[in-house]
Amino acid sequence: MRPVIIAGNWKMNGLPAEAGPLAAAIAAAMPHPDVVRVLCPPFVSLAAVDAALAGTGVAVGAQDVHAEGAGAYTGGVSAAMLAGLATWCIVGHSERRRDQGETDELIGHKLLRCREAGLRPILCVGEQLAEREAGQAEATVQAQLAGALRVVTAAGGFPDDLVVAYEPVWAIGTGRTARGADASAMADAIRVTAAALGAPADGSRLPVLYGGSVTSASAGEFLAEPAIDGALVGGASLKVDEMAGIVARAAVTAQARLEAAGAA
Ligand code: 13P
Repeated sequence: MRPVIIAGNWKMNGLPAEAGPLAAAIAAAMPHPDVVRVLCPPFVSLAAVDAALAGTGVAVGAQDVHAEGAGAYTGGVSAAMLAGLATWCIVGHSERRRDQGETDELIGHKLLRCREAGLRPILCVGEQLAEREAGQAEATVQAQLAGALRVVTAAGGFPDDLVVAYEPVWAIGTGRTARGADASAMADAIRVTAAALGAPADGSRLPVLYGGSVTSASAGEFLAEPAIDGALVGGASLKVDEMAGIVARAAVTAQARLEAAGAA
């Protein structure tokens, strides 16, 4: 049985002084231990959020990590630096691919750094609108996945704690979501690629999240899909009521999975 995971990506929003109280308020509004809950604030707010979430069962994630372990990389933050502050780490977000020119190869090295430091990675993949319109969505995502994961598998096998977030670029911050059925088909394609790269149990244990304009109103469309295991939430993850609604809906899916596993 795969877990149901809701991760909030706060992106470059909020000040450190605001982050702790916001995280505490969000955690209090989503008291559903059956759902794996993660908040990913900016680096400078990790310590405050880590302190605010102590004892809540909500985990802390970073939004990025440097591809190298240490050295002369001004402004960089290494996996070892994050390890005391976060247990999860987003890698390969499309905004970083776009703004920082991150390649699949570089993202693969970030996955390696996560593995060394014991950070659980959320690897983001997703196609541009033109790629979807050209019928290339699955090929694009599969190439992103393979390009990053080849670096990791070559250095010691498929990362068994990996989580993949399918975030179509055209759905991020636009208010426009993919359809549940399309996201589900993409999750299947992601698992096929993962299996080819050596994922255990033919990729059937790999959690795949959907991301892109997820709100409390749209979350149900994705959480109703058996192939989708939760959401990576951007803008709505800064709002207490939105996160409360999204996680409450996720708890319904988590409960249904528990019951199905119990009946099996
Ligand atoms: P939005 O939910 O704001 O569209 O952002 C999605 C995202 O990029 C999460 O990583």
